[in-house]
Amino acid sequence: MTPPWFGASSTSSVAKASSLATVHLREGRERPLRREHPWVLSGSVDHVEGDPESGDVVRVEGAHGERLGVGDYDPDSQIRVRMHGFGPTDADPDEDWLLARIEAALAWRATHPALRDTDAIRLIHAEGDGLPGLSVDRYADWLVLKLTTPAMWRRAQRIGEILQPLTGAQGAWLRGDTSVQTERALFGSVADEPVQIHERGRAYWVDLRHGQKTGFYLDQRDARDLFRRLAAPDVRALDLFSFTGGFALAAQQGGAREVVAVESSLPAHKLLCRNAPGVEAVLGDVPEFLRKDERRFDLIALDPPPFARRKRDVSAACRAYKDLHLWALRRAQPGAHLLSFSCSHHVGAELFAKVVLSAALDAGAELQVLGTLGAPPDHPLALTHPQGAYLNGLLLRVVEPA
Ligand SMILES: C[S@@+](CC[C@H](N)C(=O)[O-])C[C@H]1O[C@@H](n2cnc3c(N)ncnc32)[C@H](O)[C@@H]1O
Repeated sequence: MTPPWFGASSTSSVAKASSLATVHLREGRERPLRREHPWVLSGSVDHVEGDPESGDVVRVEGAHGERLGVGDYDPDSQIRVRMHGFGPTDADPDEDWLLARIEAALAWRATHPALRDTDAIRLIHAEGDGLPGLSVDRYADWLVLKLTTPAMWRRAQRIGEILQPLTGAQGAWLRGDTSVQTERALFGSVADEPVQIHERGRAYWVDLRHGQKTGFYLDQRDARDLFRRLAAPDVRALDLFSFTGGFALAAQQGGAREVVAVESSLPAHKLLCRNAPGVEAVLGDVPEFLRKDERRFDLIALDPPPFARRKRDVSAACRAYKDLHLWALRRAQPGAHLLSFSCSHHVGAELFAKVVLSAALDAGAELQVLGTLGAPPDHPLALTHPQGAYLNGLLLRVVEPA
């Protein structure tokens, strides 16, 4: 069955591309582009021929004139060009690639069996869908777009013209990375009040305009389902860094006898209280809570914000992850399940597991890994772009002492 977020097809006119400037790479920097990696970093650029403006489409050539493809230029970013065509291709003056990729991204999701039973879904996941700089989330009848490149901001109107008939959405809200002034409705109307979404039998209020990310952590949908399954009626559950109560409500849905959620942001805490009445909602700092509250839990979600936004933050992030696990393990009953996450790309799965092991050794706890966790299928990773991997999770079990 076709879900409600997929509608009729559209075609409409777009601006013509002007003649292209060319970014020439330094000697030996062609290989990633031959393998269709979508980024040209500033350090790979030898010189630029022509005078491209921020957001222009440029051609990219190797040191010996090999035509490597075309992409979006951003002189102010370390990622100087984000590629959307490879090989001896030239720029598509009507940008039909944009329409084709948006249609493709929506089409496969519309029938994917792992994306049923929710009206909140990521429709476009940037490089993962061949659309660098563009993320689009559907929340019931509304869309939230996150545009992270000057080129995608320039295309905003055209993207709206494509999405409106395809999705039948009532309104779309544009969000940026940097400048709040540019945030606005792209089409239709988007209320300043939270809207309600329904995910696998759970109803959440989502603040589309002001909430973190685009309003909700859609990437934890499958982990919330797992949390629900682990929350049997005799279970005492703890949702740490709970935001608006994603895991807390899933634990209630599973029938947990007691659910505690800890979050430091006041707007998120207020929505948490609305989403999951009956949960003990603590407005405060997680490390402080873990040091002071002496209760023990059978099921814990540990989903902190990204501790390492840059490579140089990795050591400090590992120390912070280790401390958190040390304290969380002190609050875990023997036999407890712990769902633990890192959403820092720079802390890869292997390093994250080492940090958890080191905390377990210091805490005198034995842990089993029952599974690995990650983003659901509406957040695809392009194999050509390993930098797109960011969410590493472990399902851990605290082994009872012999
Ligand atoms: C990755 S998000 C959690 C998402 C949530 N698990 C969900 O599925 O919706 C991290 C959350 O931690 C909160 N936070 C950051 N630092 C905190 C702290 N020291 N104590 C409590 N909450 C914190 C942020 O406000 C944010 O809501």
